[in-house]
Amino acid sequence: MQLSTKHLLGIRDLTPGDIHLILDTATQFKEVLQRPIKKVPTLRDVTIVNLFYESSTRTRISFELAEKRLSADTINFTASGSSVSKGETLLDTVNNILSMKVDMVVMRHSASGAPHFLAKHIPAAIVNAGDGINEHPTQALLDAFSMRENKGGKLEGLKVAIIGDIMHSRVALSNIYLLKKMGAEVMVAGPPTLIPPHIQKAFDIRVEYNVRNALKWCDVANVLRIQLERQNQVLFSSLREYNLAYGINKQMLDELDKEILIMHPGPINRGVELDSDVADSKQSIILQQVENGVATRMAVLYLLAGGREES
Ligand code: CP
Repeated sequence: MQLSTKHLLGIRDLTPGDIHLILDTATQFKEVLQRPIKKVPTLRDVTIVNLFYESSTRTRISFELAEKRLSADTINFTASGSSVSKGETLLDTVNNILSMKVDMVVMRHSASGAPHFLAKHIPAAIVNAGDGINEHPTQALLDAFSMRENKGGKLEGLKVAIIGDIMHSRVALSNIYLLKKMGAEVMVAGPPTLIPPHIQKAFDIRVEYNVRNALKWCDVANVLRIQLERQNQVLFSSLREYNLAYGINKQMLDELDKEILIMHPGPINRGVELDSDVADSKQSIILQQVENGVATRMAVLYLLAGGREES
């Protein structure tokens, strides 16, 4: 089985069949990662560059680990300390790296559409590791994998509330695309200033401005960080007031008549969108999401490399 696409630029381009294939392949790789020897020779002789023009902890480390577990050769490029500071363009940088016989590019960039631009100009397969406020496809895939793992193996019919700064979040957009394609029910919740005005109609999803109502409705709350670095105007009065009105604390969860799953892509701003007694509670699967990122990214790299036979 193969993906219908050469690159992973966004969930928007994937079919439900592609998503099933990635999640099922990730399940097999998760099993590999439980073994004493966690490495397989699947991508031996494949060279991958991790091209990070924007900060990252989880995504960068988990791509690198996924590549190493698959026996690929890896190169790590970060814009700071590179010749980008001397004025080299994105395309020149990438073409110079590719001339050293690199097969795949994993790329994070603060500009929405940067990986789509590259895909038009270079022959290598590209994986979008987050582009501006557009998409973060592997985050949505690992989120879906984690939901499936904790909620009886399927996404269809699951009620997922995405809570927080929807306006500036690539995680929100990729999750909405994926969950809708897989038959889940989706709600976005948060302050009106952080929710795009036409999102309800554009994606056929629910919108809720009261976080307690969102928590009452959902099976899974995927809580997002306030992306202050992407906001160029004042959209709420202060982080303290955001926490009072929209932050999630343990008391709010204890008042519900069911136990919901708490997710967060990281990094968490403790005491803003989530209090520590929620982030660290047994309802939280935040570190499990990070663990699942490795198997999910192994699946994406393996399938984009053409699904070579494992030996
Ligand atoms: N979730 C996520 O993308 O985290 P990083 O920015 O640390 O990679």
